[in-house]
Amino acid sequence: MIEKINQLLATIDALTADSLDAVEELRIKYLSRKGLIPALMQDFRNVPAEQKKEVGIRINELKDRALEKINALRDSFATADEDTSDLDLTRTAYPMPLGTRHPLTLVKNEIVDIFARLGFVLAEGPEVEDDWHVFSSMNFAEDHPARDMQDTFFVEAHPDVVLRTHTSSVQSRVMERQQPPLRVLCPGRVYRNEAISARAHCFFHQVEGLYVDEKVSFADLKQMLLSFAKEMFGEQTEIRLRPSYFPFTEPSAEMDISCNICGGTGCSFCKGTGWVEILGCGMVHPNVLELNGIDSTKYKGYAFGMGVERITNLKYQVKDLRMFSENDVRFLRQFTAAN
Ligand code: DAH
Repeated sequence: MIEKINQLLATIDALTADSLDAVEELRIKYLSRKGLIPALMQDFRNVPAEQKKEVGIRINELKDRALEKINALRDSFATADEDTSDLDLTRTAYPMPLGTRHPLTLVKNEIVDIFARLGFVLAEGPEVEDDWHVFSSMNFAEDHPARDMQDTFFVEAHPDVVLRTHTSSVQSRVMERQQPPLRVLCPGRVYRNEAISARAHCFFHQVEGLYVDEKVSFADLKQMLLSFAKEMFGEQTEIRLRPSYFPFTEPSAEMDISCNICGGTGCSFCKGTGWVEILGCGMVHPNVLELNGIDSTKYKGYAFGMGVERITNLKYQVKDLRMFSENDVRFLRQFTAAN
């Protein structure tokens, strides 16, 4: 009896079928009421009592294995069947959902377009920079707090290599390669060692501008910034400049625009003041010109730097900075890819 069971097991393991009908034939042959396995069960009656336990277990095993095998054979045809019945090579392709541009890209492109019309050309520099381009060439004193571990990401084992904390480093990259007249715009990502919250992130984006020529004045800077503000936020926009300090400009200023959310009457975004700060600017410090190989007795320049996230918040009222880097499509889909 055990012998018979083993033989059947071997044949069942080796079964193949080339169609669903063939599978059905196998099922009838082995498992139907008059099939080979039920027949074996009939014989069970004649097994001597002391062998009944072992033989019983083996017959059950055989039955399970046969069921499994036949089901597996049947399934293999079922899936193959499904695949082919759906395949219509003449059908129009499934529509591919079109992506949208990231809001920061949209705003950056808009800024670049406006300055391109004012004669600025693009310039780029590396995000992993050396201390010279980020700090020293920009007239930062050796002990300036911006160099501090708390603000700057250093590249381990290279105390001289940092993730740039501002795009002003590109000013230096441009000046060391080219003599005036210079009129460049440098968009890019910057990094600061900040705890991530709704209002701060460890990386964000800036657009830097630099203009160096023989007769450049603060009035030129102011006029150019006014044109930018009006183009970006609408003709009704007003600007104001507040004295400030940056190591690389003298004099330095910060620029506010009239709050474009409340129109200047005061709201929670502008904290009731009617004004919001959008950029830093000033006349390029003569030290910066000299450090980068430009004759400061002959040339003057202005520079400015703005945060792309800040401008985007103003345009689209995004309340939480983290939204920009979380890749939540429900957020991203709200921005059209029109430009
Ligand atoms: N680099 C400054 C910052 O990251 C922004 C800035 C201010 C850039 C004044 C300039 C400038 O070019 O003139 O906060």
